[in-house]
Amino acid sequence: MSASHPPRPTRPIRFFHRGALQQIDSAAPTRTLLDWLREDARPRCTGTKEGCNEGDCGACTVLVAERDDAAPGGVAIRNVNACLRFLPTLDGCAVLTVEDLKPIAVAHGQPAHPVQQALVACHGSQCGFCTPGFAMTMTGIYEEHCAAGTRPTRQQLADDLAGNLCRCTGYRPIVDAGEQMFDAPAAPIDRAALRQQLDTLAADATPLTLDDFAAQRLARPDTRIVAGATDVALWVNKQFRDIGEPLWIGRVAELRRIEVTADALHIGAAASLEDAWRTLADVVPTLREVWQRFASPPIRHAGTMGGNIANGSPIGDSAPVLIALGADIVLRRGAVERTMPLQAFYLDYMRNALQPGEFVARLVVPKPTDGTQVRAWKISKRYDSDISAVCAAFALRLDGDRVAEVRLAFGGMAAIVQRAAQTEAALLGQPWTEATLVAAQAALAQDFHPLSDLRASAAYRLKVSANLLRRLWLETRPDDPLPPEDTTVWTPRLTVPIHPETRA
Ligand SMILES: Cc1cc2nc3c(=O)[nH]c(=O)nc-3n(C[C@H](O)[C@H](O)[C@H](O)COP(=O)(O)OP(=O)(O)OC[C@H]3O[C@@H](n4cnc5c(N)ncnc54)[C@H](O)[C@@H]3O)c2cc1C
Ligand code: FES
Ligand code: FES
Repeated sequence: MSASHPPRPTRPIRFFHRGALQQIDSAAPTRTLLDWLREDARPRCTGTKEGCNEGDCGACTVLVAERDDAAPGGVAIRNVNACLRFLPTLDGCAVLTVEDLKPIAVAHGQPAHPVQQALVACHGSQCGFCTPGFAMTMTGIYEEHCAAGTRPTRQQLADDLAGNLCRCTGYRPIVDAGEQMFDAPAAPIDRAALRQQLDTLAADATPLTLDDFAAQRLARPDTRIVAGATDVALWVNKQFRDIGEPLWIGRVAELRRIEVTADALHIGAAASLEDAWRTLADVVPTLREVWQRFASPPIRHAGTMGGNIANGSPIGDSAPVLIALGADIVLRRGAVERTMPLQAFYLDYMRNALQPGEFVARLVVPKPTDGTQVRAWKISKRYDSDISAVCAAFALRLDGDRVAEVRLAFGGMAAIVQRAAQTEAALLGQPWTEATLVAAQAALAQDFHPLSDLRASAAYRLKVSANLLRRLWLETRPDDPLPPEDTTVWTPRLTVPIHPETRA
């Protein structure tokens, strides 16, 4: 670390692991949970594996428990990637690793946890390298369904396991184990005891208010803000960058809130991607597929909406959807807030409108007005957990058979996520016919001159974008609109409800 970094806070980082309070006062702020478990914890906990060290493989999956009055037993338990989790972000939490499974089972008079029993019975492991990660994700699923008195479908298991890779067993036996783990006598985590532990940490925690955070940001404009670290941890793990002593935005409760009012969603910048996308899909059900295909559950649990928007990758998946919905972004600098359309926030490749000392406070997403049809499609090489080659999001309102309002936003087509201005102009006021569609498809080539890279060629990107416009037309044309089942290549996915309220 360079000498110019501001002094560390004096209180140690505190969290529970294996039932004991851990107090850490000498680790670098970017020490990851994975390295701590494997190298610093005593005894060392090498059950948690390192595969990719970049959030892609799930070998390092652990569960993080936090106080949450709305969650069962007052404790939210989520799977995350230990390789991307910096220790300071665990302050006030409890960490459960594969080493915790046996004690949980023994407390229930069983020799092994139901997840472990089922993985053995179903032959869900061969070399075993991925198995601790699978076991922890499955324990998270087990906990969720035990608490709700439900069982997941095979499709839900597949969706929830999207962040765990196995290279030798194959997924069928693992998904079998996911079904079978509910057949053993129940062995849930003792949430009451966990909550008591977490309460002891909360008692003398110092909350960070939004005003405090804004003042700190203003005083330290060059300091790196860190939210979920799903981007930043890669700079540290892969590029060995020194990010100094960061400003941890996740500690600001006000910024983690999501509010739904009569006409808009207010998404705090530090709200998790999972919570934000779940709320978006509740309000606009056609967004469910992009939600499920955004990274993986552990990344969505850690990453934030504000981080995704501030990072401003041209292939990020939130910006096209929010721009198509007509979202505003609220920026704050000291005590002063300013609001702008999200599309105006992006200036050029990885350059945005943030001023020194300013930060993203929240997104305000208007609910689509009656009659507005919204579609969003992600094109990538793999269905699950892949980066978009193109992500397109469309909002369209017809008046009779004419296009009365339209917003077409594309990621992956330019240096920034951008609206297709000329294509929109070709549609506005026109009858929503195939001839209008063809004219709009031609206009796309004036709006965008995409790059060729390892994900897709420029020609493919243009072609697939034009095809997505056709898909929009097929699903929304006044005459004989097709249901989504008839326009998707992912038919099996759509036959399984993925909305939590419809879970079995
Ligand atoms: C395995 C993997 C898969 C992924 N898949 C996808 C995907 O499918 N789609 C996709 O879009 N992205 C994907 N990502 C990228 C990443 O998850 C997102 O960009 C994420 O939303 C970043 O949020 P964060 O909270 O982790 O940000 P951080 O990593 O903490 O921060 C990212 C950047 O934003 C800044 N920042 C954070 N919050 C604020 C704020 N409130 N104000 C100002 N600046 C701020 C930080 O300083 C930093 O520059 C993936 C990442 C990984 C590792
Ligand atoms: S080591 Fe691969 S996701 Fe963490
Ligand atoms: S059992 Fe070998 S990678 Fe999964």
